[in-house]
Amino acid sequence: SDGLSLQYQGILLPRETHSLECLEFAQEFKFRDDDIMAAVYPKSGTIWMQEILPLLLNGGDLTPIQTIPNWDRVPWLEEKRLAVIADTLTAPRAMVTHFPFRLMPPSFHASKAKVIYVMRNPKDILVSSFYFHQMAEFLDDPGTFDEFIKKFLDGNVMFGKWTDHVKGWRSAELGDRILFITYEEMCEDLPAALRQMSDFLGRNPSEGTIQKIAQHCTFKTMKTNRMSNFSLVPKEYMNPEKSPFLRKGVPGDWKKHFSSEQLARFNSAIRKELQSESFTLPYKL
Ligand code: PPS
Repeated sequence: SDGLSLQYQGILLPRETHSLECLEFAQEFKFRDDDIMAAVYPKSGTIWMQEILPLLLNGGDLTPIQTIPNWDRVPWLEEKRLAVIADTLTAPRAMVTHFPFRLMPPSFHASKAKVIYVMRNPKDILVSSFYFHQMAEFLDDPGTFDEFIKKFLDGNVMFGKWTDHVKGWRSAELGDRILFITYEEMCEDLPAALRQMSDFLGRNPSEGTIQKIAQHCTFKTMKTNRMSNFSLVPKEYMNPEKSPFLRKGVPGDWKKHFSSEQLARFNSAIRKELQSESFTLPYKL
């Protein structure tokens, strides 16, 4: 780690958005039974869930997504900002976390808070993260694509190894408190994904409301939402001229980036890490 990152419980975190104080705040955070959490490895659909959850929880009311920046509307459990705005959240509170399961605070385990775990193809995560490291000035330069593959596979990236994240949440044994969904399913049929989420959350929106929410959560619409596209962040922190935060928003961009040798190396490393797991990934390895 260097000046830009912080070591915490075996993982790297960006200092710009994390501190030991806020990590302690997260550990002491008091979950309530009606809290809703999206658990998402970085670059797998976090800000998408920050758009979706308030809409699903408020019957499609556009006010939150049009007036509150995503980081205050559905805050990150582990980031500095939570302590500042925690008291402004109204029930049912919606939050996101990049935490691996092992770092979830004690009150989460004691509560009935529900979790939606969003998984994405790790090759697309890697590509998305590679560009994000170029545009976010508070993150290390990613180096070459090949160097970044090595960092990713070694877990030498924000929030640690992708395989550890998936393994931890897959084996969390949260019963009906957790819903597993994929970024690819959301891209394929967003209304269907929204129906699945609202069933899980015990909501019963009309088909019209589902369609309305889906329209406001497309990549295209979110790209123009100032409260969600990070255009409120100064260029010194995130420079959209290098790469926009909402960059491509599709599955399969990895095909334009991996050589066949890199693909073989990547797949075999991921396969090896997951070989003794009982679940199978919906991705070809
Ligand atoms: S972060 O920094 O971890 O919070 O990033 P995260 O939001 O998890 O992931 C960013 C990627 O999600 C894509 N995204 C979307 N794709 C499709 N539809 C919608 N509505 C959407 N919103 C965000 C975003 O474009 C990043 O992926 P890439 O592949 O880089 O485009």
